[in-house]
Amino acid sequence: TTETEHTLRTPIVAVLGHVDHGKTSLLDRIRGSAVTAGESGAITQHIGATAVPLSVISDIAGELVDPTDFDLPGLLFIDTPGHHSFSTLRSRGGALADIAILVVDVNDGFQPQTLEAIDILKRTQTPFIVAANKIDTVPGWNPNENQPVQVTMDAQSDRVTSDANEKLYEIIGELSDNGFSADMYWRVQNFQANIGVVPVSAETGEGIPDLLTVMMGLSQRYMKEEMEIDASGPGVGTVLEVKDTQGFGTTLDAIIYDGTIRADDTIVVGGLQGPIVTDVRALLRPRPLEEIRTEQEFEQVDAVAAADGVKIAAPDLDDAIAGAPIRVLRDRDRAEVIAEVEEELSEIEVTTQEEGVVVKADTLGSLEAISSTLAEEEIPIMRAEVGAVAPRDVRVAETANEPTHRAILAFSVDVLDDARRLAEQEDVKLFEDDVIYQLVEGYDDHVTAIEE
Ligand code: GTP
Ligand code: MG
Repeated sequence: TTETEHTLRTPIVAVLGHVDHGKTSLLDRIRGSAVTAGESGAITQHIGATAVPLSVISDIAGELVDPTDFDLPGLLFIDTPGHHSFSTLRSRGGALADIAILVVDVNDGFQPQTLEAIDILKRTQTPFIVAANKIDTVPGWNPNENQPVQVTMDAQSDRVTSDANEKLYEIIGELSDNGFSADMYWRVQNFQANIGVVPVSAETGEGIPDLLTVMMGLSQRYMKEEMEIDASGPGVGTVLEVKDTQGFGTTLDAIIYDGTIRADDTIVVGGLQGPIVTDVRALLRPRPLEEIRTEQEFEQVDAVAAADGVKIAAPDLDDAIAGAPIRVLRDRDRAEVIAEVEEELSEIEVTTQEEGVVVKADTLGSLEAISSTLAEEEIPIMRAEVGAVAPRDVRVAETANEPTHRAILAFSVDVLDDARRLAEQEDVKLFEDDVIYQLVEGYDDHVTAIEE
């Protein structure tokens, strides 16, 4: 017998894109197609994540996928609301997602959150493909439910084909403006060097067979080795959200990407005041959709193995931070695990200097992303923290010597009333935004104005 049990885990796929470009609809459609394919029970919707097994992918993709070509178990999709920075999806040393789908509305093209997503994909070197969504809205489109791209394209008039291509080439052009060589996915040979664009419709299901085939192929081809884990080992994960759950107090929505977490485990979680050591009270899973109305929303489970989403109920989670690491203690040395979490938290902590601006953000990931953007522009940071803007932040900002540094950049966080008043009184400038580059642009414009 061996001590470890090596298995291939499910690749984690982040679905990103601008608000309303169709991320959730795309996942809904995949779930719906599984129902049509008689696989309703096969897809499970977990905390912020949808697990789609290989059998379902192969049913939806039809002849595009031969399941015997694959040994990865399927794909775990994480939906990220457009108004929320997906930079929460971090893990040690980079992105939590192994791969991503960037959803772009063919009518709307690249928008602020599309650009923000691209920046983060670049920074974390996450491979991705582009789903050019809402292709059914091209005027005169002849819909062909659930058909692969080639089949439905062949069924369009010349006029419609040419209009569709024009929109698709605009997206390819925008990708190239952002430093990516891209082409229609069927022309891409090397998906590491080129970005493939897949025309899809979440409304009609067209192109979804292709999307799933490409994602599965990409994962199998380039990621298989990274998917090898010891599934029974102590779990490792990332906090997606810290929130109140009725009857359980403050809970964590988490993605476990290595090992297993059990309902009787002790875990170490990154918190505002440092690592939190706590005993799991319950592991919760949403019930399948049809059961929600009649019973409680969640069911308790004994264990969750990577890669998967789970809601963790435990005492003392109030200070836990979105984007922070979670590690299961089990039979490991307590001090060692605490030190690991501490180290991981300190890696995130941004280099701060005696002089500079103050940055507040909603998650560790967004803090990291903003700090790296500021570093590129050589803007120094005096304090960088997760949390709302409080009066003490203003007190720090007003100690800056340079007038341009008397500023607080607040990303997706509240500004306490006292803090806002104090900032005005002390002439500390507040910048608020929920798109990183817009936040930094706002600050840059202010600096330019001062310097002129
Ligand atoms: P956020 O979560 O708010 O960021 O938005 P989202 O990207 O999840 O978009 P969502 O799926 O909620 O879709 C936004 C709107 O676009 C909805 O009204 C959808 O019905 C519509 N929509 C999405 N995909 C398609 C599509 O392929 N074709 C058409 N015609 N409409 C679509
Ligand atoms: Mg959505």
